[in-house]
Amino acid sequence: MDLTLKVWRQDGPTEKGRLDTHQLSGVTGDMSFLEMMDVLNDNIIREGGDPVVFDHDCREGICGMCSMFINGQAHGPGRGVTTCQLHMRSFKDGDTITIEPWRATAFPVVKDLTVDRGAFDRVIQAGGYVSVNTSGETLDANTIPIAKADADEAFNAATCIGCGACVATCKNASAMLFVSAKVSQFALLPQGQPERKRRVTRMVDQMDKEGFGNCTNTGACSVECPKGIDLTNIARMNRDYLNASIKGE
Ligand code: SF4
Ligand code: FES
Repeated sequence: MDLTLKVWRQDGPTEKGRLDTHQLSGVTGDMSFLEMMDVLNDNIIREGGDPVVFDHDCREGICGMCSMFINGQAHGPGRGVTTCQLHMRSFKDGDTITIEPWRATAFPVVKDLTVDRGAFDRVIQAGGYVSVNTSGETLDANTIPIAKADADEAFNAATCIGCGACVATCKNASAMLFVSAKVSQFALLPQGQPERKRRVTRMVDQMDKEGFGNCTNTGACSVECPKGIDLTNIARMNRDYLNASIKGE
């Protein structure tokens, strides 16, 4: 298929960006979106130009690096997929595709389609450690009973890959879906209880410091999340934060 691509180009965080137009031929439906971008870059390099900078790593929906806003949607059309899992069969011959970086104050553009998501790392760091009893009388983890429903919910929360699509989708650039998933994966398990209040307080405070917006219950974050992280995690985080604030943590 033949495509017209409008690609965001920006030399640095404080530089002015622009949309460049490229014509691309010979794209097949079996190519992933990133493979299509590779072909575009091959063409640009052959013509002596500067290739488009974009993040990627695993190319199988695990690492969360491939952050592209495609035709106004984080990770493009389709549900439950990252950009690397999006196939070109989702588009048709003659389509125009607009490709932009995540847009949020807390995610400054590094170059072109690559943004700095270090804010997510700092939120996780603020959460701190999970304490482990190494006194010599340590209980085997498998002897602590955990309700199946709690284990399943903790596991679901832990599938968050930190891609940032929730932030890019939210009209307030809120990171609450991401942070609540990271809070919940510990809050639902016995091992997460000793630091539970301190963890949620520190992570939410860091989230606010990074400049993310607040949640206004639109729910777009969860719809666009490639891992289907549920809004109930945000409710759990809010309850935990309130509880910790009242008890002075
Ligand atoms: S909650 Fe979903 S959209 Fe947000 S960072 Fe995690 S996986 Fe990505
Ligand atoms: S490149 Fe790893 S999730 Fe897309």
